[in-house]
Amino acid sequence: MHQECNKFLKTFKLRYPIVQAPMAGVTTPEMAFAVAARGGMGSLSLSHVNLQKKSAVLEIGKALNVFLAEKGAVNAQNVNLNFFCHPIYPRPTTSQKENWKKLYSKILGSEELGTGFRFDNGNVSFQTIETKENLDILKSLLAFFQNKFTPGVISFHFGCPSSHFIEELKKLGISVFVTVTNEFEGEQVLKFGVDGIVCQGYEAGGHRGRFPDTDAKYDECLSTLCLFKKLKQLKVKLGSESFLIPAGGIMDSQTIQFYLDQGASACQLGTAFLAAKESQSCRFFRNLINSDDRKCTLMTPLPSGLPARTLLTPFIEKLVNLSHDEDLPPYGYRYSEFKSLRSKFPAMVDFNLCGQGVNQMEMGRDECLSSQEILSNLAQGLFIHQE
Ligand SMILES: Cc1cc2nc3c(=O)[nH]c(=O)nc-3n(C[C@H](O)[C@H](O)[C@H](O)COP(=O)(O)O)c2cc1C
Repeated sequence: MHQECNKFLKTFKLRYPIVQAPMAGVTTPEMAFAVAARGGMGSLSLSHVNLQKKSAVLEIGKALNVFLAEKGAVNAQNVNLNFFCHPIYPRPTTSQKENWKKLYSKILGSEELGTGFRFDNGNVSFQTIETKENLDILKSLLAFFQNKFTPGVISFHFGCPSSHFIEELKKLGISVFVTVTNEFEGEQVLKFGVDGIVCQGYEAGGHRGRFPDTDAKYDECLSTLCLFKKLKQLKVKLGSESFLIPAGGIMDSQTIQFYLDQGASACQLGTAFLAAKESQSCRFFRNLINSDDRKCTLMTPLPSGLPARTLLTPFIEKLVNLSHDEDLPPYGYRYSEFKSLRSKFPAMVDFNLCGQGVNQMEMGRDECLSSQEILSNLAQGLFIHQE
């Protein structure tokens, strides 16, 4: 009954079929390490690394410091390193920058907004190092994964790298996972031979992994369950052996059990870990859960340039109401300027990515639970039929 799950546990030498989601700006190496050490799959987002710089590999080494220093304490097979793989966007035009400034001066007041905007690209896509000029960086990255740290999984969000690179990773014994949000993306990545598909439903927190070069008008906004079922059928049709990992709105062991019983290999959970002790957003979500504030979420592309599910706050409401479909800078450039605005006005500007399950977050009585406690509570009561 649980063949898929057993295969997943065996392949990655895991105790639990639970993947702690990579969450840019939230997950820490300590969180990924703790989850991996307890037998779940610990994920670390590396989307902040500027892959265009020669120092990229050094920076990745730094992010993995805790893993490299405590070699042996954790099985590298339990670790998932995550990159963004969106298209390479052009620099913003003058009118896009002006539109952005006008929008935010309506929200904050033009005197407040100030000057000195940079519109740097804060999210360099993995696709950048697949270009001819950056092949040296790609080679040094592969050498790093071969000689210094070989994770069990490398995963991609917002798209898929070339089939050539997927093959290179596989030669090193690394499995490749890609997030998809519909069956067309699923078909594409299955044909590329990826090892795992993260089936990200519309409930999910954070950025939607939809391949951004597809037309947003036709986004079906599939729920996690519906997407998972469609991909299960597709997998049978194509005779694929890939792992299917539902993600989105999964907050408790009953729901994990439900997906495992339906043939899922494992489940990926992000929001459930947002208030973990090792999370960068621990304090914020702890206060939120303990408050009477409303806990609704909204999918919007406005702050960053790509659709993301965020807490619906008075700021987000104002942004949505005052924006009228302006042509704004593309993702990466828009997001980095938004982040500097948020750091200048922390009391007025916010963007708290979380899923529809935010009100089901588990809290300790007096303080935040550790990632290991969250993992153990989720795993408790799971029944996996051994072959
Ligand atoms: C704060 C936050 C940041 C996220 N950042 C990433 C990321 O960097 N890479 C990625 O593949 N997915 C990212 N995601 C999406 C998660 O991988 C996962 O699909 C999602 O959390 C599952 O839905 P849930 O939040 O309802 O559990 C993020 C999610 C959240 C909540």
